[in-house]
Amino acid sequence: MSNIDKAAKYIRDGGLVAFPTETVYGLGADSYNQDACLRIFRAKGRPAINPLIVHVASQNQAADIAYLNDYAHKLIKAFWPGPLTLVLPLKNQNIAPAVVAGLDTIALRSPSHPVAGELILKSGCPVAAPSANPSGYISATKGEHVKEHFAGEDILVLEDNIGYIGIESTILDLTVPVPTILRSGFIDAHNLEQILQKPVGVKERDATVKSPGMLEKHYSPITRIRLNALSLKVGEVGLDFGDSKLGGDYNLSKSVDLLEAASNLYDMLRILDKYAINRNIKTIAIAAIPSIGIGYAINDRLRRASVL
Ligand code: TXA
Ligand code: MG
Repeated sequence: MSNIDKAAKYIRDGGLVAFPTETVYGLGADSYNQDACLRIFRAKGRPAINPLIVHVASQNQAADIAYLNDYAHKLIKAFWPGPLTLVLPLKNQNIAPAVVAGLDTIALRSPSHPVAGELILKSGCPVAAPSANPSGYISATKGEHVKEHFAGEDILVLEDNIGYIGIESTILDLTVPVPTILRSGFIDAHNLEQILQKPVGVKERDATVKSPGMLEKHYSPITRIRLNALSLKVGEVGLDFGDSKLGGDYNLSKSVDLLEAASNLYDMLRILDKYAINRNIKTIAIAAIPSIGIGYAINDRLRRASVL
């Protein structure tokens, strides 16, 4: 049996599987199985009010679960499989209640990573999966990150050797009159507007928190973060970008490539967090990143990671 076959059986039998996607690792379970989905919340220490994204293999599978409107059809055609999550009205009442956390909407996405795609197909069910990290901590972009976190748990971890975007999918709310971005990502407002032929809203910083992933503090290392650093202060470790002069061992992208920076971000933050904790260093200073293209999403994550 291949590893993916084994993992699909795990999912069907109510187990948890950590699997690579083109954004970050997901911690997946059968989205129809309430007990299995509750285990995801327990393993992550995730608040029950924070709903999960359900991963599907096709538009047809999405249409079984949610009501797809015209916007959804257009966006699915343009961006699926890929790093775009759509929030839609929930249709299928067999979805485990824990997944939607009591809402009448559901977040769906179809990942383009071949391992994720094959896993969903072979499982034969839509797969509920948040990012595979303890709630609030930096997302995982490598199998080894996941194994570190969930060492004592019965979780099957699928390995991967394909590059990542490295930050989570864009979340677009299609249940409101103006399609609204709830979380920025690789697919940006401009990309969405080109397909929809109308402006989209952005609501990433709402104090009323429609999507608990909008919570101010999130994606955070244990060590404090200082942004837009020009030079290193005493007792800091640095994370450079391009030709910035923090003099750290790590640079998100020497060639000023924002896609490279996104794919390095979480791994480097994890390494620096461990380094700082071991040496009693209090702060990770990070050079400025331009808010262009995916740089906008990088800065969104860094800003949340820096909230005290
Ligand atoms: O790239 C990704 O999206 C990764 C991979 C594994 O697919 N998943 C991911 O899941 O980032 P998670 O759980 O870390 O973030 C999901 C976000 C949360 O902020 C959650 O609040 C939001 O999606 N969400 C889920 N269902 C929602 C809904 N019905 N309405 C609004 N927000 C929702
Ligand atoms: Mg997450």
